[in-house]
Amino acid sequence: MSESKLFTPFKLGPITLRNRTIRSAAFENMCYGNKPSQDLFNYHTSVSKGGIGMTTIAYCAVNRNGVSFDGQLWMREEIIPELKKLTDAIHAEGAKASIQLGHCGNMTHYYTCGGMPVGASSGFNLYSPTIMRGLKVSEINDLVKDFGKAVDMCRTAGFDCVEIHAGHGYLISQFLSPYTNHRKDEYGGSLDNRMRFMRQVLKEVMQHAKNDMAVIVKTNMYDGFKGGLELPDCLTVAKEIEKCGVHGIVLSAGFVSKAPMQVMCGAMPLKTLGHYMSPWKFWWLKAGLKVVGRKMIPTVPFKEAYFLEPALKFRAEIKCPLIYVGGIVSRAKIDEVLDKGFELVQMARALVHDPEFVNKMKESDSSYRNGCKHSNYCIGRMYTLEMKCHHCVENLPKSLEKEIEEAEAKL
Ligand SMILES: Cc1cc2nc3c(=O)[nH]c(=O)nc-3n(C[C@H](O)[C@H](O)[C@H](O)COP(=O)(O)O)c2cc1C
Ligand code: SF4
Repeated sequence: MSESKLFTPFKLGPITLRNRTIRSAAFENMCYGNKPSQDLFNYHTSVSKGGIGMTTIAYCAVNRNGVSFDGQLWMREEIIPELKKLTDAIHAEGAKASIQLGHCGNMTHYYTCGGMPVGASSGFNLYSPTIMRGLKVSEINDLVKDFGKAVDMCRTAGFDCVEIHAGHGYLISQFLSPYTNHRKDEYGGSLDNRMRFMRQVLKEVMQHAKNDMAVIVKTNMYDGFKGGLELPDCLTVAKEIEKCGVHGIVLSAGFVSKAPMQVMCGAMPLKTLGHYMSPWKFWWLKAGLKVVGRKMIPTVPFKEAYFLEPALKFRAEIKCPLIYVGGIVSRAKIDEVLDKGFELVQMARALVHDPEFVNKMKESDSSYRNGCKHSNYCIGRMYTLEMKCHHCVENLPKSLEKEIEEAEAKL
């Protein structure tokens, strides 16, 4: 193995990261009232202090209509001063600040997005659950502009980078996937047509990012179910993203309204998920979970660096910097991923478990391992409460402790 690149700087477009690590966009559910909070501030400053190269504020909608949780950000003028305090604090710790921008489309809900949810096409989404209306072309054009305006606001708020969410079955991905796009106009049909919305968004984003902000895109290597996008089409999508001149691509997979655990692998902790959901607000989901939970959210086997094999197929054909994400918990695996040609690695759960993971790797030898054992408690909890690892929660109910123990024992 060659000398480790992990603690060497990397130039991502116009910005330079102090090392090869990025805290991936992992929804914090800490933006109570859709605004930044002290909890959000504390978490991202702790990860920055913990040595990360760049931290990503997750899942920010470009407009009100794209919001799927009460604790989710939507970019607007009034939150810029609070965001600026956050990016200043991140910078003071030596890290760069990124923010994931997107629109939840058919994963929104009437109560969170302030009206009728919209998507690539009209229909019903059992996972929200909601009916949605297909976007008109004039609305698509407005939405594209909203991405550009959001980038401008991110610059004013001090962000160094924006990550466009084009995967996981959110709006751009809903246009890309034949499962959710049944349009008969120039935005539907062929893959080239289905990529039109993404191309428009990326063109707008690149114009607004000018030459001082980095732009990365999170995209799928496959949707993860029959009828969704398969790897060859996703490779075409990644090449199209590269052509748009972005500075890096994050390779992920999965579709929240059909194959959610493809994103994170392992099992969804159904007891945890149901335990925290408010019975009056989510009665339909609580009832559904008991009856068909495991069928609706099937388990996907977890292994360390579970996306490495497909990601290597992309590495062979894409020239722009590639950012590996998925199942990273050890120094040895990070070194292996970097050695195989990925420029950067993103991590979510390792940094939920231990915000100081990066510094601890620096201070230890190459056998250092993070303590996350992928119970996925944090995922089940995040749907209702602020993101937290189970070891930071006092007085966990016995049934949830048992669910965690059983999940950890299976790995
Ligand atoms: C609690 C939690 C919330 C997540 N929220 C998001 C999100 O908002 N946007 C996103 O693109 N991915 C999200 N993810 C997926 C992660 O960014 C990452 O792709 C995935 O967890 C695999 O990385 P890991 O094995 O290092 O956790 C989330 C993951 C977790 C654990
Ligand atoms: S709750 Fe479980 S999966 Fe989540 S970070 Fe903690 S140990 Fe890892």
